[in-house]
Amino acid sequence: MERLPFFIFCITCLLFNSKFSVAVDTISPSRAITDGQTLISAGEKFELGFFSRGSSNKQYLGIWFKSIHPQTVVWVANRNNPLTNSSGALTISGNGNMVLLNQTESVIWSSNSSSTAKNPVAQLLDSGNLVLRDGSSGNPENYLWQSFDYPFDTLLPGMKLGLNIRTGENWYLTSWKSEDDPSPGDYTYKFDHRGLPQIVLRKGSVVQFRSGSWDGVRFGSIKFDRNAVFNPIFVCNEEEVYYSFENNNRSAISRFVVNDQSGSIQHMTWNDRRLEWVVIFTLQKDSCDSYALCGAYGTCNINNAQICKCLKGFTPRSPQDYNALDWSGGCVPRLPLKCGSKDGFRKFTRMKLPDTSIFNRNMSSIECRAVCLNNCSCIAYAKTGISGCVFWFGVLLDIREYVEDGQEFYIRMAASELESNNNAGKRVAVIVTVSVVSGMLLFVFLSWCIRKRMKKRIEGKPLELIDAFMEDPVPESESLKCIQVGLLCVQIRPDDRPTMPSVLLMLDSENTMLPQPKQPGFYTERFPVEKDLLSSIVKKSSNSNDVTITMLEGR
Ligand SMILES: *[C@@H]1O[C@H](CO)[C@@H](O)[C@H](O)[C@H]1NC(C)=O
Ligand SMILES: *[C@@H]1O[C@H](CO)[C@@H](O)[C@H](O)[C@H]1NC(C)=O
Ligand SMILES: *[C@@H]1O[C@H](CO)[C@@H](O)[C@H](O)[C@H]1NC(C)=O
Ligand SMILES: *[C@@H]1O[C@H](CO)[C@@H](O)[C@H](O)[C@H]1NC(C)=O
Ligand SMILES: *[C@@H]1O[C@H](CO)[C@@H](O)[C@H](O)[C@H]1NC(C)=O
Ligand SMILES: *[C@@H]1O[C@H](CO)[C@@H](O)[C@H](O)[C@H]1NC(C)=O
Repeated sequence: MERLPFFIFCITCLLFNSKFSVAVDTISPSRAITDGQTLISAGEKFELGFFSRGSSNKQYLGIWFKSIHPQTVVWVANRNNPLTNSSGALTISGNGNMVLLNQTESVIWSSNSSSTAKNPVAQLLDSGNLVLRDGSSGNPENYLWQSFDYPFDTLLPGMKLGLNIRTGENWYLTSWKSEDDPSPGDYTYKFDHRGLPQIVLRKGSVVQFRSGSWDGVRFGSIKFDRNAVFNPIFVCNEEEVYYSFENNNRSAISRFVVNDQSGSIQHMTWNDRRLEWVVIFTLQKDSCDSYALCGAYGTCNINNAQICKCLKGFTPRSPQDYNALDWSGGCVPRLPLKCGSKDGFRKFTRMKLPDTSIFNRNMSSIECRAVCLNNCSCIAYAKTGISGCVFWFGVLLDIREYVEDGQEFYIRMAASELESNNNAGKRVAVIVTVSVVSGMLLFVFLSWCIRKRMKKRIEGKPLELIDAFMEDPVPESESLKCIQVGLLCVQIRPDDRPTMPSVLLMLDSENTMLPQPKQPGFYTERFPVEKDLLSSIVKKSSNSNDVTITMLEGR
């Protein structure tokens, strides 16, 4: 391609040598930099020059923080095409592009801008951005090319990670191959705009981690709140969708980077007292952030002893594997879907929305349910913060539960599954009630047992039963009622036992006619003396759940 006249090298040699100490931040067609020389941004924040790593003789053109040692490189030009001999030159070619030439003047790298300038100037800005612009243009911010459009592994304040929807330009991060090798490594962190916007980390082509989906309000559980170090920015409009950030303290130094070894995505800040980088957060919080760890329809909750379980209404495809902590097989619906109006939806809250969805911005959120219900392949839907609906087709993957925040969505279930849930719901309500009245019921139950044992002796004298437990005198009618309710609750057939609401009603109301209790289900004649009977019962109820369970499973 372009060949640079030899005299430029001479001019270069005259203008600069490694002892040339005046900081320069621009290059022009008549000014180049060669090995040993650097550009330094006006505020001395960043430096551009040649570097090599380890014992390699490969040379790269890069940008690093001027004040930080060891050298922290934030951008590399010729990442795919190192110089193998130490002499290279960065200059501006005849067509106005920035070019990196090797010793035999072959173009190793070019800025490749299609627009040309009359008076091209390249400048290293204090933001770390290397820009190419027309020196005779009135607007100095009208860049023909900028390094911020070609991020490598590092996002600096003001850089974008995302997508220009109009031009298709995609700004994404790529890890280094290793600490000593700035050629592109295996990890990429890139916007995925097929459904709701999300950022996906891949190793090669294999998805490792999703940020969570942008629903117009939050990114999974990540709220965009300013923190002590930086202010995260998320922009999503017709033209662009991107993540960016700015430092709260303009003189602070922080960066967002994809680690070459682990693929972890970290925000780091420079501690200028301890002179080291400090990781202030890692995007992948815990094992629940490993992509699709719990398999299809599985959900991950880091607070559970066994972190994976099937979503409610689903059951392990292979219970044996799932219980053996091999979750890859995932889950299947507990009851088969019927399609159409035979199905309904169950709401899940505080979740990370499943992977890949279809987003319909033009739909009112009221329509979401109906639209999903009427399409048998629609597995789930969600309403979004921005008006619109999201639909899922195919299996649901990579779901996790959060303690707070998170998002909500609805999964299609067989109507019968939802009914069983309603009953379960009632049972849960009952458990709560039971915990309130269980003390009383236990007392009633004990009373009944004692009464049964002592029937002959205490008939007609229920107060003798009560006194042992109660400090205030209890009216005889009350004691009789409690005993009778207790007996109703322990009838042998569960269907005969009153529901908890009716128990409360019986205990509450003054003049209810209580039904006559039938044969109790728990009575044995095993206990020889009252004292032993009582202690056995107490022991029994504390050692095993038998007593309580019976009450919980009341109707
Ligand atoms: C470039 O480097 C190679 C290997 O280090 C060496 O053999 C060769 O002589 C060098 N070429 C020049 C022109 O210095
Ligand atoms: C310069 O680059 C060209 C093309 O990559 C290559 O053929 C040539 O050997 C390189 N010259 C040196 C001195 O490395
Ligand atoms: C510049 O464009 C050429 C030709 O289109 C291409 O081969 C080369 O990879 C591009 N270089 C960069 C740095 O994008
Ligand atoms: C901003 O950062 C600089 C350099 O780290 C520090 O000296 C200064 O105290 C900070 N200012 C505030 C307001 O935190
Ligand atoms: C959304 O609806 C508006 C008005 O109803 C229409 O002009 C627009 O083309 C629609 N957009 C899409 C993506 O369907
Ligand atoms: C269901 O939705 C999918 C995806 O949008 C679509 O391809 C399919 O045609 C729809 N089916 C019906 C019956 O509407």
